[in-house]
Amino acid sequence: VRAMQAHLDAYAAAAAERALEVTQVVGAALVDDRRRVLVARRGSGPLAGLWEFPGGKVEPGEPDLDALVRECREELGVAITPHAFLGEVPLDGVVAGGAPGASTLRVWWGRVTGGELVAHEHTELRWVVEDELEELDWIPADRPLLPAVRALLTRL
Ligand code: C5P
Repeated sequence: VRAMQAHLDAYAAAAAERALEVTQVVGAALVDDRRRVLVARRGSGPLAGLWEFPGGKVEPGEPDLDALVRECREELGVAITPHAFLGEVPLDGVVAGGAPGASTLRVWWGRVTGGELVAHEHTELRWVVEDELEELDWIPADRPLLPAVRALLTRL
């Protein structure tokens, strides 16, 4: 019975931890030396055809910046160097499978520092200047970040 109780306690502790776990999403606003930022078009899922900053889900226990570097390597085939935090947007809970605002998208700006860009998971990659940003068809989560990205491009 004691062994069974210990098992149940461990199970309850694990479940409580899972309930508090939120899915963190990271994104990269990668800029070049011509004041342009890299945008990527999603190829599959409900957001297919819409533009986003490359990135994705942080794995449990993974530091945000490690996830950012990993996602850019996986999606774009390049090494990046993050430079500074740019902004954070609450996600609607669809990503986290939880309550509204249970997860957030955190975006850093940075530069490509190695490799050749290849769209491994997107249908299109494009370098755009500040004036082209607003007119793109953005996924909802990324659009609130545009003022910060535009400000960044003008001060580069
Ligand atoms: O790219 P991936 O499918 O791993 O992203 C997981 C989720 O994170 C997407 O479903 C999308 O809702 C969100 N996401 C986002 N903004 C990004 C990248 C991903 O909101 N720039």
